Amino acid sequence: MKKLEEYVRSIPDFPEPGIIFRDVTSILQDADGLHMAVDSLIDMVKDLDYDLVIGPESRGFIFGVPVAYAQHKGFVPVRKKGKLPCETIAMEYDLEYGQATIEMHKDAIRPGQKVIIVDDLIATGGTTEAIVKLIEQLGGQVVKICFVMELKGLNGREHLKGYDVDSAIIYE
Ligand code: PRP
Ligand code: ADE
Repeated sequence: MKKLEEYVRSIPDFPEPGIIFRDVTSILQDADGLHMAVDSLIDMVKDLDYDLVIGPESRGFIFGVPVAYAQHKGFVPVRKKGKLPCETIAMEYDLEYGQATIEMHKDAIRPGQKVIIVDDLIATGGTTEAIVKLIEQLGGQVVKICFVMELKGLNGREHLKGYDVDSAIIYE
């Protein structure tokens, strides 16, 4: 049986020179790779007490929903600006390449609810830091943050001090 990291295709200089792009599609298109990735995320949270899974557009949806489904939890999408139809709160943030604004529905989390965040990858940590801020503005409590891949050299965890962070694959 192959290891999860063996399913990841790495593309140099995408989308910009100097970036090594860790391609999640090569995990997803293989039945074993997909199972291994989702199961590794479920293992990280299966013993925790929480109410909701939070996942950012778009790759966070791919992994967040199967975790929520398997654990019988609700899923809350964090979307890029302008996509959600009801009242939202928003946060701007920096990425490894570029900038973005994400939004959540104001009524997506009730005060006191415990949540986990699931995404495919942490690079600079900017996306996750913004999500944590939105969750906490709504009165939610982040009990765990889970990734399939972590680009350790970009020090994303520096933005997430004090939170329980776990990644299935760590790139030094
Ligand atoms: C990617 C990835 C993470 C984020 C990580 O999403 O899926 O959400 O970047 O980068 P960071 O740790 O530097 O914030 P992206 O915004 O590229 O959107 P996508 O999932 O739609 O491709
Ligand atoms: N998102 C941000 N940085 C990335 C990278 N190096 N590979 C894949 N997705 C990313």
